[in-house]
Parts: sequence; structure tokens; C-alpha cells
Amino acid sequence: MIKTVIPAMMLTLASTTSQAADPAIGKQLNEEHCIRCHGSEVYTRENRRVTSLPGLHKQVRFCEQNLGLTWFDDQIESTATYLNLEFYKFGIKP
Ligand code: HEC
Repeated sequence: MIKTVIPAMMLTLASTTSQAADPAIGKQLNEEHCIRCHGSEVYTRENRRVTSLPGLHKQVRFCEQNLGLTWFDDQIESTATYLNLEFYKFGIKP
């Protein structure tokens, strides 16, 4: 009984909260799929398009959909979290 209940709970948590975001996974996904067209320099260039955290999530999804990767929400979250921690630093105090 317990064996079946716990994975179900974990699935619910993963899909309803952003706690599934794992920057280590995001780093890996970014390296695997995202630095083909642009290197990581687009994330730090002077006139970068992304100017907010919600904007970053939107842009990650946009590029991901263009690639036809069909990522799950937690993969989007992880990648956006990684890019934010590493490059954009929205809402992170220096
Ligand atoms: C098929 C080519 C391609 C791939 C692969 C790609 N992108 Fe992009 N990406 C673009 C283009 C084109 C732009 C817009 C560049 C511009 O405006 O000059 C862009 C811009 C961005 C920006 C905005 C940079 C800024 O100005 O702040 C982010 C963030 C981004 N991509 C994330 C991703 C992520 C995450 C992935 C992997 C899922 C990815 N990209 C994969 C083509 C790609």
C-alpha cells in the first residue's frame, strides 16, 4: 500500500510546485540542447532580450518548443533556474 501511495504523492508535488527545479539538471539540459545555435554569450550580452524571471521562463519555453523537445515543466523550470543562477541573477542579491 505505502509503496504505491508515496510515488503518487511525489508525482503530484512535482507537477504542482516548482520544487522540482534542479539547477544541476538544468545545466546538463542546457549543455545538451541549448548551446547549439547560441552559446551562453546570449545570456550575458549587453542588449539581452530577457529582462525578468517570468520572461526567462517564457524564453526557455519558446526555444524549447521551437526545437520540438517536448520537455516537461520541471525540465523548463530546472533550465530557467540554472540560467538565472548562472547568468541572469534576477532577484538574487550580489
Ligand atoms: C534552433 C536554434 C536555437 C536553439 C537550439 C536554442 N535557441 Fe535560444 N535562442 C535562439 C534565437 C534565434 C534567440 C534570439 C537571439 C536574438 O534575439 O538575437 C534565442 C534566444 C534565447 C534566450 C534569450 C537571450 C537574451 O537575449 O536574454 C534564451 C534565454 C534562450 N535562447 C534559451 C534557450 C534555451 C534554454 C535553449 C534550450 C532549450 C535554447 N535557447 C536553444 C535560438 C535557439
